Amino acid sequence: MKLTVIGCGYLGATHAACMAELGHDVVGIDIDPQKVERLQAGDVPFFEPGLADILRRNLDAGRLRFTTDHSVAADHASVHFIGVGTPQEVRGHRADLSHVHAAVDALVPTLRGTHVLIGKSTVPVGTCEELSQRISQLCAPGAHVELSWSPEFLREGFAVEDTLSPDRMVLGVGRLVDDPEAPQAESLAGQVVRDIYREVLETGIPFIETDWATAELVKVSSNAFLATKISFINAMSELCEIAGADVGTLADAMGHDARIGRRFLNAGLGFGGGCLPKDIRALTARADEMGAPRAVGFLREVDAINMRRRSAAAELVAEALGGEVLGRNVAVLGTAFKPESDDVRDSPALAVAGRLALDGASVTVFDPQAMDNSRRVQPMLSYAASARAACDRADVVVVATEWAEFVHMSPDELAPVMRHKRIVDARRCLDSQAWRSAGWDYRALGGPVPA
Ligand code: UGA
Repeated sequence: MKLTVIGCGYLGATHAACMAELGHDVVGIDIDPQKVERLQAGDVPFFEPGLADILRRNLDAGRLRFTTDHSVAADHASVHFIGVGTPQEVRGHRADLSHVHAAVDALVPTLRGTHVLIGKSTVPVGTCEELSQRISQLCAPGAHVELSWSPEFLREGFAVEDTLSPDRMVLGVGRLVDDPEAPQAESLAGQVVRDIYREVLETGIPFIETDWATAELVKVSSNAFLATKISFINAMSELCEIAGADVGTLADAMGHDARIGRRFLNAGLGFGGGCLPKDIRALTARADEMGAPRAVGFLREVDAINMRRRSAAAELVAEALGGEVLGRNVAVLGTAFKPESDDVRDSPALAVAGRLALDGASVTVFDPQAMDNSRRVQPMLSYAASARAACDRADVVVVATEWAEFVHMSPDELAPVMRHKRIVDARRCLDSQAWRSAGWDYRALGGPVPA
């Protein structure tokens, strides 16, 4: 099938390449000429394992191209995905829908005949309803545009796998208002999406076709639930610290209950990135607007617990240093919000590094992928070329993102470069026994790790 993907950021670029990988003829459209140029040259502008291979393979096969020209969309295809960003508003907690509006405004007036729009971006509940009014006003006479929303559940670091082998697919369909000619038959989008994803759906994953509002809510509620799970275990870790209990064993034991599950129960520095923090805030703001502030009032606490982890990490570092960070050398390993990503948006790791620097420490950081992005956000830190170099004459080292290379560091190899053998495991990802038996002062964020 011929498809377009509007917006070629993280979500859109991955989606365009994966749709081409499924055999479709895809045009990716973005307003940023540099991004388009890089993608067209087979160069992924962010770190995502496996994406460059499928991008290049499909560019070479002629099934994929990128352009800044929105007018190409109407001629190329009658199915258009919207994958633009919906960041947090600059002033406030709502989702900024200006990119979604701009995409619709640029596309819809150019369409003739029947077209299907499939939104992928994460949007607040009620967005389709509002967009349908906008689309009705923008539609050329005689054109039919069906709006549907199919939220994307991909995780950074697993974007290709999650797009081509998702756990489930959700599609919200509805009718355009004020369109007397709109066909009353079954939604066109449902069949179109089944055709596009035929190969994926043949694996037997659930395909849930529902209304716009439910589809919009599935995405934000899923992220809110994941965030709640993480903050729940982090709240328990606050109790574990006082009680002298081990939150890792607690999570393991709880996780054996199939109703609870072990995933997303890793205590530590908490969640960050471009999705979970923004989505719980946007959901809270939307509930306020809808007159239901109490419905998700608990998400404010989820957010507060999460933000407390960053202060707790900085305090643990100070404790390891005997109470004073001013003038001390601190190495921070990891700045990305999680491993296998170069994303530093709302990164807990970078926030802790910045906080220690503000408290007067001399902070040197290293991340295997996120150095350029970190430098842009936190120019006041020192940047080292390796983990070992970051630890050179350090009084303490903090593991803030659980990259495999940090998890597998050898205590004996690192010891000679350090001024003091002190390590703060802010992700509870290290082998505490190995560090302790090598003579290190090992501390884990979220309470003691049993010897
Ligand atoms: C998240 C969701 O997992 C995806 O399903 C969703 O599609 C995506 O947001 C999105 O809305 O686009 P992502 O932000 O890539 O994906 O990252 P996650 O793997 O969910 O991790 C989020 C944060 O939680 C990271 O900072 C991670 O370190 C932290 N985390 C995760 C914990 O602190 N503890 C855990 O047990 C798990």
